[in-house]
Amino acid sequence: MSGQLSPIDTAKFVAARRACDLVEDGMRVGLGTGSTSAWMVRCLGEMVREDGLRITGVPTSARTAALAREMGIHVLGLDEARWLDICIDGADECDGELNLIKGGGGALLQEKIVATASDRMVVIADPSKVVAQLGAFPLPVEVVPFGWQTTQALLQETIAALDVLGDRTELRMNGDQPYVTDEGNHIVDLHLGRIGNARQLALVLNQIPGVVENGLFIDICDVLVTGHADGRVELR
Ligand code: 5RP
Repeated sequence: MSGQLSPIDTAKFVAARRACDLVEDGMRVGLGTGSTSAWMVRCLGEMVREDGLRITGVPTSARTAALAREMGIHVLGLDEARWLDICIDGADECDGELNLIKGGGGALLQEKIVATASDRMVVIADPSKVVAQLGAFPLPVEVVPFGWQTTQALLQETIAALDVLGDRTELRMNGDQPYVTDEGNHIVDLHLGRIGNARQLALVLNQIPGVVENGLFIDICDVLVTGHADGRVELR
């Protein structure tokens, strides 16, 4: 499956393959979204088809659901599966305490719900995602379409008063239209540069009317699997 991969895809692939070793027969598995997670879904698909692994996958996006079905994985919605044994997902940033920024791929809401419903969340990453402090990657915030400009203005005001470096906010676009999530919402990306107190920021953002959820995952991730271009894998 790995064929001739670029260094970055090799790193993503080896992280994904190592994380799949944590999946056991009969498990209910949360399936993350993004290019690293896509490797994990392909690896699990191979284990299902070739090794007879029996799992139920709960996808975190329509994209992942389509790929999982294509790979031959039995797919259920979260309401049918209810509680999951493990969730494997990528991240945009992961700090030393395993706190994350997620949502670069626009799936943060379902990803956070699925990760929280899982006994264990495993993040798979290449080394570029591992950071000393969160915030260089723009923080995605999912907002309802109604009054989004008011919500964006409130976000702007709120972050200006907090311990962050930057305060630019930007509605995510898809061509000339606002990006629409699987839940029918928009995303405002916060360009913060450095987040001083991620725990406080995560709580404060969710108090703003119109905000559905933010991309800070605090105390949710249990294991970080980092893959390297030379094939090495580290677990933390
Ligand atoms: C999607 C996410 C992804 O996990 C995150 O953006 C990482 O994606 P990739 O593996 O493609 O770098 O949070 O909402």
